[in-house]
Amino acid sequence: MEIAVFGTGYVGLVTGVCFAEMGYNVTCFDIDGDKITALSEGNCPIYEPGLEEMLKRNLAEGRLYFTNESTNACRKADYIFIAVGTPENEDGSANLGYLDAAVASIGKSLDRDGVIVIKSTVPVGTNERVRKQLEAIIPSELRVSVVSNPEFLREGSGILDTFHADRIVIGADDHEAGRAVAKLYEPFGRPVIQTDVRSAELIKYASNAFLATKISFINEIANLCEHTGANIEDVAKGMGMDHRIGSQFLNAGIGYGGSCFPKDTKALEKLTEYYDYDFKILRSVIEVNSRQKQQLFHKAKELFGSLQGKRVAVLGIAFKPHTDDIREAPAVELITSLLGEQADISVYDPAASGKVSDLFGSKLYYAENADTAIKGADAVFIMTEWPQITEYDLGRYPLLMRQPIIFDGRNCYGLEEAETAGLTYFSIGRKAVNVHDTLKSLKR
Ligand SMILES: NC(=O)c1ccc[n+]([C@@H]2O[C@H](COP(=O)([O-])OP(=O)(O)OC[C@H]3O[C@@H](n4cnc5c(N)ncnc54)[C@H](O)[C@@H]3O)[C@@H](O)[C@H]2O)c1
Repeated sequence: MEIAVFGTGYVGLVTGVCFAEMGYNVTCFDIDGDKITALSEGNCPIYEPGLEEMLKRNLAEGRLYFTNESTNACRKADYIFIAVGTPENEDGSANLGYLDAAVASIGKSLDRDGVIVIKSTVPVGTNERVRKQLEAIIPSELRVSVVSNPEFLREGSGILDTFHADRIVIGADDHEAGRAVAKLYEPFGRPVIQTDVRSAELIKYASNAFLATKISFINEIANLCEHTGANIEDVAKGMGMDHRIGSQFLNAGIGYGGSCFPKDTKALEKLTEYYDYDFKILRSVIEVNSRQKQQLFHKAKELFGSLQGKRVAVLGIAFKPHTDDIREAPAVELITSLLGEQADISVYDPAASGKVSDLFGSKLYYAENADTAIKGADAVFIMTEWPQITEYDLGRYPLLMRQPIIFDGRNCYGLEEAETAGLTYFSIGRKAVNVHDTLKSLKR
């Protein structure tokens, strides 16, 4: 069985490598020539645990190929997966430009019947549009089916999620094509749900919007905890033990980011506008998240008054641990606000420094570890719960900083240990620790 994959980003590359691992012959195509060169040499351009080893093994065993010629990818393919980006347009809608370009080059290259499988997250109705687009380009004697197969992997555990997916969603109006794609997934041994195309497209958006809702909901409860004196950790634990609620996605924090939740919630909102439907909860989820991302900055402003000339360290930039992805990361927004205040900023992230430096260049100091980042700092902002940060020795903050003031957006430390270590510690949905002495010394 021959598989082609268009797009070798987080989703396409993981998909291609995992299909090869299952014994299929896979050819991956990307318009980014540098990526293709690196991948052909076994070098993984993204940070994804376990991916590079699997990539190298499948290259060596001759099941995995990379090409910068779309025709090469399509030539023998029985199935062509599309996993190109669908980023956000300025108005919040999904930008389908990459998808359309991929479809156009597939259309030009197809010289036999084909099953096109869309993995990219696309608004309801897109699969149908793609089928019509293809039918208009390909020779009339060819038959093409378009199957929706949205992806649910999480960056940082992409391989694990692919082999242990909760479900594989396959949406097809051509049932034979749908069954064939389901068969392709049989070796993974995961539950498959087959639906019509439009339902499959909506399952993806509904799932992401629901998870985003859970996050915004617990963040609202955390803010309420700060007003009422309750502790969000206890509240979330008490809620999560109810099986109807479940404990996942109940970690209060500085808001969701990344390449999916922000753009997918906005694209869904755009879709509801198109259908003239007022999805009230969704609008609030988006609004709550954008306010939440500013929480720590406001707390710091309240404490310091002005941050001009203050030495601040930002620990963790990636939108979550175990990835180098900084798209829509709350830390990026914080850094932008801090730069606006003319703060003097050092940053540390175990994987994302390169991407941060592409974005901010010489405006920041890039530290190689947490020690170097926090040295001489007036305040530290914790934005990603990397183990290097959660397991950091709290005693080092007072030792290395000018004053140990910590704003923790991920509730990495216990309140008691923060207090014992002598930190002035602000977190999310919990009482602030050792604040009075700091206020006195700042006033002096
Ligand atoms: N990243 C995630 O965790 C995740 C999870 C589930 C679903 N998704 C969805 O999957 C899709 C891909 O996301 P991603 O994070 O892998 O994107 P990405 O930006 O990491 O990668 C997209 C890749 O597509 C390539 N590309 C663009 N146009 C192309 C074309 N015409 N032909 C071939 N390649 C082309 C780009 O060069 C890039 O390498 C998106 O729709 C996203 O919403 C992402």
